[in-house]
Amino acid sequence: VKQLVFGLACVFCAALVPIMIPAAVQAAGDANAGAKIVQDHGCEGCHGASLKGGAVGPSLYGIEHRRTAEQIVNAIKNPRPPMPSYGFTSAQIEDLVAYLSDLDGGASGMKPTVSFAPNPPGATSTITVHFADTPPKDVIVTPMMDMGGSVMSSAAVHLHASAADPHTFVGKVEFSMGGAWTVQVKYDGKNLDVPVTVKD
Ligand code: HEC
Repeated sequence: VKQLVFGLACVFCAALVPIMIPAAVQAAGDANAGAKIVQDHGCEGCHGASLKGGAVGPSLYGIEHRRTAEQIVNAIKNPRPPMPSYGFTSAQIEDLVAYLSDLDGGASGMKPTVSFAPNPPGATSTITVHFADTPPKDVIVTPMMDMGGSVMSSAAVHLHASAADPHTFVGKVEFSMGGAWTVQVKYDGKNLDVPVTVKD
């Protein structure tokens, strides 16, 4: 009887495991997935830091006010050189459109910028979140790394407003390894995922 119960439990386990693992399945038009594509493909190399315009590529900031979603899809699908053709899937392009269209937080104004130093980090890094607009009361950051399906996250850290500048919040975070990280910033009930690159 013991063996039978054990056998049943294992069948149950095996059935559960594959359901719990694939966190990578994404709905179309996922802005956070788009952020990751942007980071993985180095779009900032041409379009500038925070995609606000570089030496080569135009600013993509607030693009949703200048272009329709269809035009953005077309610019990525059939790019004009030197913009490379990446051969993205339709789903990836939907994710990119969602991300690019939300760079400026829609109509509500500026999103905070996230930076940290040193990079590569020592045991801890000082993270700085700057709000160009009215600063929020409370800022919590959580560094996370996507390990191909499962997400590893460092401890959430409560930031404090800098004495010198109330628009700037600082705190100490831990990046345990180099690579592509996402810093989740929680403020005023908003939840923003900012891609950052941690050097080895
Ligand atoms: C090698 C430089 C380069 C890279 C890398 C690059 N772009 Fe571009 N991109 C450009 C240039 C230049 C243009 C303007 C092309 C034109 O219309 O003349 C452009 C145009 C665009 C446009 C249309 C902008 C508009 O106002 O119509 C979008 C959207 C865009 N790029 C998205 C991306 C994304 C997303 C990535 C990364 C996956 C990326 N680009 C990577 C150079 C680049």
